[in-house]
Amino acid sequence: MTDPTPPRQSPPSAPPPAGTPSSATYAGTGDYIAAPELLQTVEVARRLGRPLLIKGEPGTGKTMLAVSIAEGLGMPLITWTVKSTTKAQDGLYVYDTVQRLYDGQFGEGDVSDIARYIKLGKLGEAFTSPEQVVLLIDEIDKADLEFPNDLLWELDQMEFSIPETHATVRAVQRPVVVITSNAEKELPDAFLRRCVFHYIEFPDEAMLARIVQVHVPDLDRRLLDLALEAFYWLRDVPGLQKKPSTSELIDWVQALARGGADHDEITRRLPFMGVLLKKDHDVDIARRALARAGRR
Ligand SMILES: Nc1ncnc2c1ncn2[C@@H]1O[C@H](COP(=O)(O)OP(=O)(O)O)[C@@H](O)[C@H]1O
Ligand SMILES: [Mg+2]
Repeated sequence: MTDPTPPRQSPPSAPPPAGTPSSATYAGTGDYIAAPELLQTVEVARRLGRPLLIKGEPGTGKTMLAVSIAEGLGMPLITWTVKSTTKAQDGLYVYDTVQRLYDGQFGEGDVSDIARYIKLGKLGEAFTSPEQVVLLIDEIDKADLEFPNDLLWELDQMEFSIPETHATVRAVQRPVVVITSNAEKELPDAFLRRCVFHYIEFPDEAMLARIVQVHVPDLDRRLLDLALEAFYWLRDVPGLQKKPSTSELIDWVQALARGGADHDEITRRLPFMGVLLKKDHDVDIARRALARAGRR
């Protein structure tokens, strides 16, 4: 966490900051392939000044979208990575009572100045930033069900109060809020109502080819086509616990290219299968499916 600027005092009746102070339009970036519908949804969310909720299976580029939006709009990115133990309060501020007690005992500094012991969280950082920022709340579904509801008011009003210092922290500029979810859990209705929602479908072959080429530009086209064929075949094998996703495919084509894989072998044997599948169970299932298909 960066050193927090002192929270700004302001009357709670002041109107929330405007939705889009920056006039730039997000049109994707060179390293991120976004479908036109996704670009439109990003703009709609910005115009409405509402959080953009992005769902999709792991590896479909949800986290990277926020990185790309920040880059595309020329704004700093503040990332709040949610864990199972994360509480909404962590994003606002924490009051470091332990440090205050310590300072009191050892006579360090002015312990009556409580503001010194208030450390802003990621939401607090985003609100107090003088520049408009992109705030990524990554993997919101990892926390408990109360977590999204506990942030509703702050995200709506773009402010929160700190009772310990009687301060109100208001957004200097309304951050562009991107929230991702791996669709592990359903999110509360009240929360969903306030967001602009987009589901990133797993990319089709043409789009996935473009995504791979962004990361591995000099790839042999024939190798890529064979790898895509084998990859989609593998994703359709019934019973896999963890289907391979985009990042595994990117690693796999590089392994194939560097390992000098024989083109005939790519769909027949799936060389370097461990790059695609990370579970013994899945490797077994894939081997059996290959044998059944007479490939191995
Ligand atoms: N649309 C895309 N354009 C470029 N790279 C992508 C895209 N989607 C996924 N990737 C690649 O796949 C990897 C996984 O993406 P990530 O954003 O971490 O997925 P998620 O957050 O949905 O699990 C990224 O590191 C990136 O290399
Ligand atoms: Mg992610």
